[in-house]
Amino acid sequence: MFSSRIVNKHNFNGVLSTSSRVFREYSIMKDCNMHPDSQRTYQVVVAATRDMGIGKNGNLPWKLPSDLKFFKEITTSTSGPTKKNAVIMGRKTWDSIPLQYRPLSGRLNVVLTRSTTCNVATSENVVTCGSIPSALELLASSPYSSEIDKVFVIGGGQILREAMNGPGCEAIHMTEIDANIDCDTFIPRVDLSFFRPWCSSLPVTENDISYRFVSYVRVCSSSDSNKLKLENFAFLPKIIFDKHEEFMYPHQKD
Ligand SMILES: NC(=O)c1ccc[n+]([C@@H]2O[C@H](COP(=O)([O-])OP(=O)(O)OC[C@H]3O[C@@H](n4cnc5c(N)ncnc54)[C@H](OP(=O)(O)O)[C@@H]3O)[C@@H](O)[C@H]2O)c1
Repeated sequence: MFSSRIVNKHNFNGVLSTSSRVFREYSIMKDCNMHPDSQRTYQVVVAATRDMGIGKNGNLPWKLPSDLKFFKEITTSTSGPTKKNAVIMGRKTWDSIPLQYRPLSGRLNVVLTRSTTCNVATSENVVTCGSIPSALELLASSPYSSEIDKVFVIGGGQILREAMNGPGCEAIHMTEIDANIDCDTFIPRVDLSFFRPWCSSLPVTENDISYRFVSYVRVCSSSDSNKLKLENFAFLPKIIFDKHEEFMYPHQKD
């Protein structure tokens, strides 16, 4: 299943140039994560420009079909046929989804709003919550704790500014758009004192825009002796491992 090959060449900021998907060796954050058990952990999925722009006038200011496909795949795939994932989003992001596509199918849509009179349609696949912690608590309680496989926070800017720095954020899957595109909504850069790039695709070009898929995982300090073992990252979505011929895996230390 997983091949275990030595990563050969890399530059520290990232993410390497030699193969379409590459992995590094890190100590991991698991034991340092102070996230309370009463709340679910989560992963962020977002696309951002060079200056961390993510939106303009309530929409995405680009058309990247393969990114939309990746988003659907990563947020929908589960570890078993009886499970589904949850996607947590801000009310403005919910509003930005065309009516015919919402709720996002096959996923529990959790919409964050502070309003008690908010007009988010209720249906079997939609719940509203008043804060990120309350959403994570709800998903940790019955029946969601057993029904929901993975939890993804998908935007927009207001939600990600809080979620990307939360202790429960175990990974960030960022579509890094190698362009400056006019945006009015921004997110912070990934904090490299808490996260390290774990794999990256080679650049993809669509509509004259070059971008790549980079996954960051939460890590401890480099002095931590707990070396990377692939199975420690089993929480990452399967899609990250699926196309194994495109991946390189780190040397597994004893
Ligand atoms: N590039 C990407 O990957 C990506 C992904 C998603 C969205 N986007 C873009 O991002 C933009 C939208 O982002 P945004 O920052 O304007 O809005 P947003 O984060 O999607 O939603 C903001 C709304 O969420 C609610 N909210 C915010 N913080 C909350 C909290 N802590 N607890 C409870 N509710 C909270 C409030 O709703 P109420 O006003 O109802 O109280 C607030 O007005 C759009 O342009 C969209 O296309 C981009």
